Amino acid sequence: MEIVITPDYGSMSRTSAAIIANEIRRKHDLVLGLATGDTPVGTYRELARLHREEGLDFSKITTFNLDEYLGLAPVHKNSYNQFMWENLFKHVNMSPHRAFVPQGNTADPEVLSEWYEQQIRKAGGIDLQVLGIGRDGHIGFNEPGSSFASRTRVKGLYEQTIKDNARFFASEADVPRFAITMGVGTILEARKILLIASGAGKAEVCHEFIEGPVTSQVTASALQLHSFAIVVLDEEAAAKLKRKEYYNWIRDNKHVVQKQIGR
Ligand code: GLP
Repeated sequence: MEIVITPDYGSMSRTSAAIIANEIRRKHDLVLGLATGDTPVGTYRELARLHREEGLDFSKITTFNLDEYLGLAPVHKNSYNQFMWENLFKHVNMSPHRAFVPQGNTADPEVLSEWYEQQIRKAGGIDLQVLGIGRDGHIGFNEPGSSFASRTRVKGLYEQTIKDNARFFASEADVPRFAITMGVGTILEARKILLIASGAGKAEVCHEFIEGPVTSQVTASALQLHSFAIVVLDEEAAAKLKRKEYYNWIRDNKHVVQKQIGR
């Protein structure tokens, strides 16, 4: 894992947007996995700016969102589908037909989940998957104990997740108890992974998933098994990392190696 520590939320957002933009420029029909939550809002705002001011072209890309609340229609104001339209899709030249979000109000979640996996395969697999992280270490909605082999499916939400996400709803009782989420196995198949985290509330879990053991109790720790995972954090989220100086030294000296191997 490459660990990039940035001073604050703004620089975390610009750094992660630059990584995504770079991939889109390298491959105009990129298949991009997307996340929701507060953390990526700044990244999406910066991507929208790059589209507006620098012509970053989204017209050929395909996107797959990680998850959706079970029972919420795509038009529901708290659905992740609406979140994506509000925060990114409507600000760039995305094709609506290539913006996939699991349909929360599906009549048959099992069929939908299998179909979602098929669409990912049909698109050629995910090139770059963007992730946030829950305070219990979840990626997507893969709560503690999710198998590293898991695929898209319905998952029951952990108490802490319901409490954390209640801020988006009128009350805690309104937060759906289940979600449809890509599995850890689905996520690990992405060619590249970018996880972003911000704020003191994520410091403990960032230490756990980056420097602790690989365990399904902290599903983000599965990224330790991936061959191309970048983690972009702000100082507050990085506060409990034990090897901070080492990560910073690598970041500042990477160019030396790149020069030596002629890249
Ligand atoms: C939700 C999403 C996750 C996201 C997490 C963190 O649970 N399913 O994909 O990473 O929230 O959200 P935030 O960025 O608001 O802390």
